[in-house]
Amino acid sequence: MNSFFQLDDHIVHLNHAAVAPWPKVTRDAVVAFADENVSIGSQHYDQWLKTEQQLKQKLVQLINAESTDEIAILKNTSEGLSLIAQGLTFNAGDNIVIPAEEFPSNKVVWQALELQGVELRRVSVQDIDEPEQALIDAIDEHTRLLSCSSVQYARGLRLDLNVIGQACKQNDTLFCVDAIQSLGAIAFDAQACHADFIVADGHKWMCAPEGTALFYCRKTIQPLLRLRQYGWHMLKDAFDFSHHHDEIEIADNAQRFESGSPNMMGIAALDASLGLLLDIGIKKIQAKVIENSTYLIERLLELPDITILTPTGQGQYAGIITFQKNDIDNVELYQYLQDNNVICAYRGDGIRFSPHFYTPKQVIDKALKVLSEFC
Ligand SMILES: Cc1ncc(COP(=O)(O)O)c(C=O)c1O
Repeated sequence: MNSFFQLDDHIVHLNHAAVAPWPKVTRDAVVAFADENVSIGSQHYDQWLKTEQQLKQKLVQLINAESTDEIAILKNTSEGLSLIAQGLTFNAGDNIVIPAEEFPSNKVVWQALELQGVELRRVSVQDIDEPEQALIDAIDEHTRLLSCSSVQYARGLRLDLNVIGQACKQNDTLFCVDAIQSLGAIAFDAQACHADFIVADGHKWMCAPEGTALFYCRKTIQPLLRLRQYGWHMLKDAFDFSHHHDEIEIADNAQRFESGSPNMMGIAALDASLGLLLDIGIKKIQAKVIENSTYLIERLLELPDITILTPTGQGQYAGIITFQKNDIDNVELYQYLQDNNVICAYRGDGIRFSPHFYTPKQVIDKALKVLSEFC
């Protein structure tokens, strides 16, 4: 599996929850795109449009959407979440439920609505036995939307989306998933979890460059989103430049959320990365991700003075394992790891390691050796 990537031998990359390395196929796709632009320009733009459609098909497969009509390609997760927050109509007295420990992107967009009299219910999902139930308990008849990450960015809690989605459906509450910390690592089923919105940039577990993101909006929900951005690309006949559109006719699918020119280079890259992941198979990748995380947990438990902050129960974690070394400054430890080529992050008051499916166990061992050498 490691042969798909080409990291230098001295690099111990355990940071897929931040910005992942690209596989070689993605480098090749970007180089080919650049070469084509240099030599023949956009002569084969039709082919680029085909790649765009092909990527949408792959995204449908990745999340088990119904069709490409439900998929738009946007800039990043924040743009998608903003489209939802600014597109839905909220009334004073409505409330929104989120986990208190969400990444800022999935917090600030809802916080901005507090100015309109919308109540934001922040429910802690940290260090409790039933985080899904805690979120569900916060829902009442005024809850318009519940938004959560599939996997918490800081301490790696993986939520059971099917349970939360079912509760939202029963209460007529919209369900929004920030899936950036699981897509590409863990299987996802938009229909089984009754998600209304799914957003995720490609630069983490999907191993693509930053700046090309999936935006899923269930077909029946699309008319609920008031459009806040306008441009040629969202029109029904976007490529009909023969006349001036006196009356605008907006596409009746998720293309309506793509206002202008697509990021064709990002699309070529994400298409290549996803092609590789889907060829290998997400189930196989998921098994490897969990195997690596479990191995990491077991090895950390063998070390003295380590507290694992990630919940370690079955099904409660995916690719993120966060821990602390007791009685020391963990920011210093983080800096030491970075200085010794162990690429990781400091999040949720601890050191966050996030190996992917292709990460060899020897690489995890190497990181733990460097960790043990810190005194
Ligand atoms: C849960 C979560 N959402 C969103 C993002 C990033 O958002 P964007 O794609 O807008 O940069 C991150 C990045 O760390 C994240 O962990």
